[in-house]
Amino acid sequence: MSGWLRIVGLGPGSEALVTPEVTEALAEATDVVGYIPYVARVAERPGLTLHASDNRVEIDRSRHALEMATEGRRVVVVSSGDPGVFAMASAVFEAVESGPHAWRDLDIQVLPGITAMLAAAARAGAPLGHDFCCINLSDNLKPWPLIERRLRLAAQADFAMAFYNPRSKSRPEGFEKTLQILREECEPKRLILFARAVSRPDEALRIAHLVEARPDMADMQTVVLVGSSRTRVIERDGTPIVYTPRFTPE
Ligand SMILES: C[S@@+](CC[C@H](N)C(=O)[O-])C[C@H]1O[C@@H](n2cnc3c(N)ncnc32)[C@H](O)[C@@H]1O
Repeated sequence: MSGWLRIVGLGPGSEALVTPEVTEALAEATDVVGYIPYVARVAERPGLTLHASDNRVEIDRSRHALEMATEGRRVVVVSSGDPGVFAMASAVFEAVESGPHAWRDLDIQVLPGITAMLAAAARAGAPLGHDFCCINLSDNLKPWPLIERRLRLAAQADFAMAFYNPRSKSRPEGFEKTLQILREECEPKRLILFARAVSRPDEALRIAHLVEARPDMADMQTVVLVGSSRTRVIERDGTPIVYTPRFTPE
């Protein structure tokens, strides 16, 4: 039987948010490859080998997956959320581009998943209902000045924004600087949503104004959504609704 490679997204956490085609690929796989906590989400079964590896070895992991598919195995590379959003799909294609020519002829498919910002936005209402952008605040793979420039320009262009990897223990100052830039560019009442562990049992949502936002409101389990100047709150009993209207007046 010929091998194949599927690069899949497991969604933000809840089993209910894994797509049927991803479930099907996992059911047919001989091998699952990925970062330890994501591989841990895949149920063990006879005939399936789980290959969990640590963070920051994405290219080695990709090569391993490609080699196994070349040998005729049915390989699934897992990411959380969507595999094309700050995740394994690009890493696999970086490996394909620089690897043996035969890898280009493999049966490779990317199967989408529900990315964190969309799961978070749905919980809150529709904060990304008009133009928005999405920025990874980690400077592991790009220089910090580029992040600052993108943040500032996005704020000046009045995009709603989603921030992934907002704050880690190794770089706690990045999110502090992010808030500082937003304070320079946006009004103090700009809405910010801190959505932690969305769709998992420990999910927590917090809505704040920019003026009240503190760096410790975010961690690596949090996706941060910043409204545009048009984003508003509908107050009601219980959790308020945060949404951005579809139109901007002349
Ligand atoms: C390496 S990125 C992976 C993103 C993933 N591919 C996606 O599409 O959601 C990890 C970041 O995604 C965000 N994230 C992932 N799952 C989340 C969840 N359930 N709730 C909130 N944020 C989440 C956090 O910002 C975290 O630091």
